[in-house]
Amino acid sequence: MADRALFIPIILGTARKGRRSENAARFMFEQTKGRAGVETEFVDVAKIPMRLDDAGEQMKDPGFSALVTRADALVVVTPEYNHGYPGLLKHALDMNLDEYVHKAVGICGVSAGGFGGTRVIEALLPVMRELGLVTILHRCELR
Ligand SMILES: Cc1cc2nc3c(=O)[nH]c(=O)nc-3n(C[C@H](O)[C@H](O)[C@H](O)COP(=O)(O)O)c2cc1C
Repeated sequence: MADRALFIPIILGTARKGRRSENAARFMFEQTKGRAGVETEFVDVAKIPMRLDDAGEQMKDPGFSALVTRADALVVVTPEYNHGYPGLLKHALDMNLDEYVHKAVGICGVSAGGFGGTRVIEALLPVMRELGLVTILHRCELR
């Protein structure tokens, strides 16, 4: 048993108005919050301060960097957009690097389609591995 609670933030990966993925992310958040020995925080990609005229570590947001540094693992809840991931999620993830290394990431792909998020998970795998994260997969089909 760990001598402190694990910190596992839930990251909602889309800023779209009316995003239904928020329901899945809130569900994941409540489930995580209810687990003994785990602390969590809800992170909305729409609220992470980000420049749009730059990319990568040079535009790192100190708050998001500190959150990922503190995290033992991450859960990313993301919709599937044209078989890929939202650009804003990638833009946010790219701001950190060392903060991720050898931490576990759970990917929860969300879609209204029959393959419910499968392809966004597939698309995110190489990204997560390049960032140094270790992947765990889950898919969620909205009804
Ligand atoms: C730009 C865009 C592209 C989409 N592409 C796909 C897709 O490739 N496959 C799929 O199953 N659903 C696709 N969807 C539908 C989403 O799965 C659906 O909107 C679902 O509610 C999750 O996204 P949301 O959180 O933005 O609501 C797309 C939606 C948008 C807005």
